[in-house]
Amino acid sequence: MTAVGIDAIEIRSGKLKLDLPNTFAPQKGDDPEKYTKGLGLTNSSFPDVYEDIVTMGANAAKRLMDRKGLEPDDIGRIDVATESAFDHSKPVSTYIAGCLEKVYDGDFVHANKGERKFACVAGTQAVDDAYNWIRAGRNRGRAAIVVATDTALYARGDPGEATQGAGAVAMLIDEEPSLVELSNDQGYGSKDETDFLKPNQQFPSVDGKRSMQVYLSRMREALEDYESVAGDIELDDFAYAPFHTPFPGMVRKAALLAYRHVIRDTEYEDDLAGEIGRQPREHEYDDREAYEAAIREYMDELKTTEQYRTWYDDAVEPTLGLSREVGNWYTSSVHVARVSALRDALERDRDFVGETLLVASYGSGAQAEIHAETVRAGWRSEIDALDIDDQLESRYDLTWEEYEDVHDIHEYDKDLDREIEEFTAPEGEFVFTGWGRMNERKYEYVE
Ligand code: CAA
Repeated sequence: MTAVGIDAIEIRSGKLKLDLPNTFAPQKGDDPEKYTKGLGLTNSSFPDVYEDIVTMGANAAKRLMDRKGLEPDDIGRIDVATESAFDHSKPVSTYIAGCLEKVYDGDFVHANKGERKFACVAGTQAVDDAYNWIRAGRNRGRAAIVVATDTALYARGDPGEATQGAGAVAMLIDEEPSLVELSNDQGYGSKDETDFLKPNQQFPSVDGKRSMQVYLSRMREALEDYESVAGDIELDDFAYAPFHTPFPGMVRKAALLAYRHVIRDTEYEDDLAGEIGRQPREHEYDDREAYEAAIREYMDELKTTEQYRTWYDDAVEPTLGLSREVGNWYTSSVHVARVSALRDALERDRDFVGETLLVASYGSGAQAEIHAETVRAGWRSEIDALDIDDQLESRYDLTWEEYEDVHDIHEYDKDLDREIEEFTAPEGEFVFTGWGRMNERKYEYVE
């Protein structure tokens, strides 16, 4: 069977940054380590005045097309995943295609365009849609572009404010991909939940603590479902496990839970038994409360063992590198985690072709999805071509007052009584230029 998967990826960060320990923490009267150690974040990316989900997505897609030498005729599908859309009818993909048509000779008239919504898991769902479209043979030899793009803002003062971020990931889904091959095995955990939502509002209503519990519950269900089709996971099956990363501290909790599940009834559990005992089994306890207390105690000990630390440092910690620097990018967060993992493999000069990644996506509301991907022969040059280090290095470092202005300018319903100047000068990129007569957003390409 022809391999189908991700041929290439591009990342586009917002061009501004907020320093959490040095700028945010003092304003909140917090210990900086709450952010760097507790949540695991150092900086958040923000869009400049002329940036938004369309410009970030279109700029990522353009770099993808230029780097792969593609013309519009090569693309049969453009899907956008976002939870920051500003229109209930016209999809962001039409805006992105419109931007791209300003700089290429051809057009996307015969490409199918859409928008995917299920909070942060929508990016992975859009990749799936493209995969299925190619597998069904409906692509006429053409590839799909999937763009996951978000400006993840919370209301000022919301506990989520520390986890904000803005950026886009563009992915080329194609036959015989250079980067990773997707498989048919998937696991889902999905339930109607009211933990994080945006009912006709720009900033989310969030029950933060509950959202973390929901994340863990849906992940556990997805893992069990995945194992029911792919067989029990062995600890050494996967080189890395990129998770949806709202903030690295969340992944720390999810990884520990996954590890406990995966080692149960294996030699790894036996090896640890002398040190911390065996995992509590529910039938050994009088009631659920006692069982849960025993589990918590076991987990607290498990996370300090060398066996667990070694696995975590190898398979999970390297997936968090970019996230620590950019914050939560919602739909593209798990795709950023995948790139972080592949960058780690590149830095360590790993012989990596044929290795697998266990990718764990999640969206509030709520659904988790788990699947495996196999690394392909072209991965090294694809990852080497990324310019994300340069982008992060050249971000403008906001003062607190400037951050307040940036938050205001990206709030759609805010009537600003003052002009806010751009912080950086656009060059060779798409920019937002204002609103049109039907309240549409307008864009231009700046040389
Ligand atoms: N030094 C070291 N660590 C510290 C510290 C210090 N001085 N002070 C606090 N910490 C630790 C805390 O112990 C805590 O870690 P543990 O959970 O491991 O104990 C961590 O820092 C965070 O501290 P708090 O729990 O006090 O932080 P908070 O209540 O202010 O905010 C939050 C946390 C509720 C998650 C908030 O950031 C939030 O609402 N975020 C948005 C929702 C979210 O991201 N949910 C995640 C799951 S949902 C999802 O994944 C979808 C999505 O993308 C939104």
